[in-house]
Amino acid sequence: MSLVSQVADPMYFSTNGTRHYYIDVGASSAPAIVLIHGFPFSNEMWQPQIDALKSRYRVVAYDLRGQGNSEVGDGQYTLELLVDDLIALLDHLGIQRAILCGLSMGGYVALRSTERNTDRVAALILCDTTSEADSNETKLRRAAAIKTIKQSGVKSYGEVFVKGALAPRDLDEGDISQRVENLILPNQALGLCGTLLALAGRTDTTSFLPKIQVPTLILVGESDKITPPDLSRRMQSLIPNSELHVVSHAGHLSNMENPKEFNNRLMNFLQKHFES
Ligand code: MLT
Repeated sequence: MSLVSQVADPMYFSTNGTRHYYIDVGASSAPAIVLIHGFPFSNEMWQPQIDALKSRYRVVAYDLRGQGNSEVGDGQYTLELLVDDLIALLDHLGIQRAILCGLSMGGYVALRSTERNTDRVAALILCDTTSEADSNETKLRRAAAIKTIKQSGVKSYGEVFVKGALAPRDLDEGDISQRVENLILPNQALGLCGTLLALAGRTDTTSFLPKIQVPTLILVGESDKITPPDLSRRMQSLIPNSELHVVSHAGHLSNMENPKEFNNRLMNFLQKHFES
């Protein structure tokens, strides 16, 4: 096996006028899995999964434009542009087909990437996400979020976001709340506002779900209030060859809130489809 690297060497690549940060760890000959983070975070939210996966998979985790260590650029984004960026990253790394694993916003990007580039996707892992486009109510919530970020800053927005994202039992547990806030804080207001507009303008991918032909795992926190388990159940009923697991003691960030159960489900799924 030729090794890409044994440690998380930070790297950059440029596409569509913006420099993106990514890490690429594990054996280059192993199946490639690309981790796509949620909003408003960075690739660092995937650390428990990177640790679990890297001895058996090629693991790529990147920061979407406008977040983490990727450049903000002009702050004008669309979901289609985020898909373009992901495909450019696969091209840059010479990965023909990848397992796409996305949480929430990352799931929107994974689903739309699969719809647009079916031949580039080997499997899908959809975490705390939905195929449905924003309702009017959600669009108004995004408008309010943009206002808060502009008027009160990223920190104020982050504090409110964390309260709504984590399972209730975690609200008293300073550690996870603090870790999630620490992921949000370094982000710049312009990048977050541009991403919110992209999310509000994304297409609905529900009609594509019955056409998905790759193995699909759906994971959702039992107390996810942002993309509740019923949305996952609806997706599972429409995607052939899909399985769903509800992660206990977890809210919207199931991979961070209950990494043990999340990773068990993830590793079992991958073993079944890529190690037999
Ligand atoms: C996320 O976690 O990516 C966001 O909650 C997605 C969204 O706001 O739709």
